[in-house]
Amino acid sequence: MTKDPLVERAREAALRAYAPYSKFSVGAAVESVDGEIVLGANMENACYRLGICAEISALTAARQAFGLDKVKRIAVAGGHVGSDGTLAGAAPVTPCGGCRQSIYEAADLSGLDIEVVSANGDGTETIVSTIRALLPHGFGPASLADAGD
Ligand code: THU
Repeated sequence: MTKDPLVERAREAALRAYAPYSKFSVGAAVESVDGEIVLGANMENACYRLGICAEISALTAARQAFGLDKVKRIAVAGGHVGSDGTLAGAAPVTPCGGCRQSIYEAADLSGLDIEVVSANGDGTETIVSTIRALLPHGFGPASLADAGD
């Protein structure tokens, strides 16, 4: 068991993933600067390329609950649902490139370097990083400063 409650919320969210094709369930939990937590999970589709990641799902919920500019931390956990009904898996799940870009968008809005906690399905291993470390020299809202009127 990890000591970070946000990871446990991400593991719990993964149990509600819709991942019948990859059978890889991912959950994400986003914490606001005020301590509010919202959840998301991957949602796949028979048209495979239309599936969405857990992080995007959770960031959409965060937008509704408190706003992207209030995002402080995000935890991600993934693996398979074991025979005992809990999430299992050895390797920590780090956000894919597209999700890093979406987390970066939120970080750029607030100026906060969002903490990203990547956990394995078992909840025993975590990699703690930040979005600026995971996406160095990223392109975000501030990068559009030189656009025309
Ligand atoms: N997935 C996520 O939800 N987040 C990630 O950062 C990595 C991948 C999902 C997408 C797909 O439904 C499944 O994991 C296998 O790639």
